[in-house]
Amino acid sequence: MQDLESIDAVQEMLGGQGYVCGRALATVVFLSLRLGRPIFLEGEAGVGKTEIAKAIAAGLGRRLIRLQCYEGLDASSAVYEWNFAAQMVAIRTAEAGGNADREVLQQELFGPDYLVERPLLQAMRPDPAGAPVLLIDELDRTDEPFEAFLLEALSDFQVTIPEIGTIVAPEPPIVIVTSNRTREVHDALKRRCLYHWVDYPDFTRELEILAKRAPEASETLSREVVAFVQRLRTEDLFKKPGVAETIDWAKCLLALDVLELSPQVIADTLGAVLKYQDDIAKLQGSEAKRLLDEARAALEPA
Ligand SMILES: Nc1ncnc2c1ncn2[C@@H]1O[C@H](COP(=O)(O)OP(=O)(O)O)[C@@H](O)[C@H]1O
Ligand SMILES: [Mg+2]
Repeated sequence: MQDLESIDAVQEMLGGQGYVCGRALATVVFLSLRLGRPIFLEGEAGVGKTEIAKAIAAGLGRRLIRLQCYEGLDASSAVYEWNFAAQMVAIRTAEAGGNADREVLQQELFGPDYLVERPLLQAMRPDPAGAPVLLIDELDRTDEPFEAFLLEALSDFQVTIPEIGTIVAPEPPIVIVTSNRTREVHDALKRRCLYHWVDYPDFTRELEILAKRAPEASETLSREVVAFVQRLRTEDLFKKPGVAETIDWAKCLLALDVLELSPQVIADTLGAVLKYQDDIAKLQGSEAKRLLDEARAALEPA
C-alpha cells in the first residue's frame, strides 16, 4: 500500500525526520506498512516509541491522530460522544420558539451536527493524503475492558453509532500501539500486532540521535554525555534516564557553555538526567567522579 520499497527506504524516510532507527525496528515498520498490521511497541519511557509514530506520519505525509490512554478511558471518549451542551441549547431554543417538532428535533439532535468525533472515529474517516497514522499511546495506562474493546475496533475498523448507522474505514489507518510496560498488555492484543521491544540505544546509535537532536553540541561533549548516560544506566536506579534525558542534558550543558563534563558540572545539572531524589542522592560525593572516570575510560579507543 505504500511506495516504500525496502527496509532501507524505511530507515531513510525515518532518518529524514530526525529519527534514528535500527534495522530490526525498520523491518517491523516495513512489514506493518506492507501487511497492514498494527505495530506494538513496548519499552521504558523515553526510548522513542511515541516519536516514531510522529516520524512515520511526517515522513509519509499522513495525518497523525493520537489517542493518549489514561486510567478510566472508556470507549465513548475514544470513539465518539454527543455534544450534550449543544443538544441542550438546541432543545431550549426550540422550546422557547414554540416550534418544537419533537420528531424532527430528535433526529437532528442525534445527527452529524452534534456528533463529537474522538480519535478512533477520526482515524476511520477518509483522507485525501491517505490513511492517517493512529497512535494509541501508553496503552498500559488503561484497563482490560478497554483493551478488549480496542481489540474489536482494530479487527474490523468499523463503528456502529445506533442513531446514525455503521461507519466503515475505506482504508484502515496505520496503527501504532505503545506501552511503557507498567503492566502486561493482554496476549490477544499483542498477537494481532507486530511486536517490537524498543531498547535503550547503544553508544553509537545514541550519539547519532544526539547529533540529530542537539547538533550544536560538540563531538567531544556529545561523546562524554552519551558515555556517562550509558554508564549511568548500568547502575541500580529507580528510573533510568531515557534518550529524552540525554538530549535534555546536552541542551542544558550547552546553555551553560560547558565544554566538557566534570564532577561539579554533573552535580549541578543532574536534575536534567535523573528525576528521583533517591537516584540523585546516589551520585553524591565521589560517586559522580567515579562514574565519569569509568565513562571516560570506556571512551578510550581499545
Ligand atoms: N531513535 C530516535 N531518534 C531520534 N530521536 C529520538 C529517538 N529515540 C528517542 N528520541 C528522542 O527522545 C524523545 C523521547 O522519545 P519518546 O518517543 O517521547 O519516548 P517514549 O514514547 O518511548 O517514552 C523524543 O522526543 C526524541 O527527541
Ligand atoms: Mg511516549
